[in-house]
Amino acid sequence: MSVHKDVKRITTHVLQEMKSNNEKISMLTGYDYSMAKILDKAGVDIILVGDSASNVMAGHETTLPITLNEMIYHASSVVRAVERALVVVDLPFGSYQGNSREALSSAIRIMKETGGHSVKLEGGKEVLESIQRILTAGIPVMGHLGLTPQSIYKFGTYTVRAKEEEEAQRLIEDAKLLEDAGCFALILEKIPAALGAQVAKALTIPVIGIGAGGGMDGQVLVSHDMLGINNDFNPRFLRKYHNLYEEMFKSFQSYIKDVRSGDFPNENEQY
Ligand code: KIV
Repeated sequence: MSVHKDVKRITTHVLQEMKSNNEKISMLTGYDYSMAKILDKAGVDIILVGDSASNVMAGHETTLPITLNEMIYHASSVVRAVERALVVVDLPFGSYQGNSREALSSAIRIMKETGGHSVKLEGGKEVLESIQRILTAGIPVMGHLGLTPQSIYKFGTYTVRAKEEEEAQRLIEDAKLLEDAGCFALILEKIPAALGAQVAKALTIPVIGIGAGGGMDGQVLVSHDMLGINNDFNPRFLRKYHNLYEEMFKSFQSYIKDVRSGDFPNENEQY
């Protein structure tokens, strides 16, 4: 029997049951009310208010500039639209790395001011104390390993991570550490499929991948990317379900043409 079909609300407990039942978890990003409403009605299990908002909503080159206040604005818009999905909110760069007290106070602001259901943060051993402290307040934490975009200036590129044995070993250790600390789930980004499958098998918590292969317990994509809104981002792992850039472009052009020609509004479109 399917777990996710029968529940009114996706909780961390439901996600755990889905893993035990071999049911794949679907996750997509959302940053605003209207999109979140469609995502939720479509039946996505998790909506991630990702710090990728920094790129796709604000137009920054990296995820680093987005602030805690901006994440709170996006997350509260999303939460207002959601009835079923679990809402995970990214802790932005600079809001948790300093010390664990700051991490807890950032996570508390997110929970109090947005109504979100959990937080996500990037890193392993180096942020373990922050994760532990957030968990003591009863806030569910999702981990994020592999390519961690907040550390882009350390890596230098967005290429596949953990291809070498040493880095793969470190990732496996970090994944275990995060599970033992009490994270309810883990994101693995842009790593070899075999390593992804190995981690998903070794952990009892759900492991959700983006560019981490088919052996994951679930998949996540940035909604703007899978809808083809951003038509110059084409990594191998991305499946585009639409070319919304083209559709929107054509619609905007038609509107401009109709306004200029006087065709819009017609008699039925006025009072
Ligand atoms: O911010 C984000 O959208 C993410 C996903 C890429 C997992 O962290």
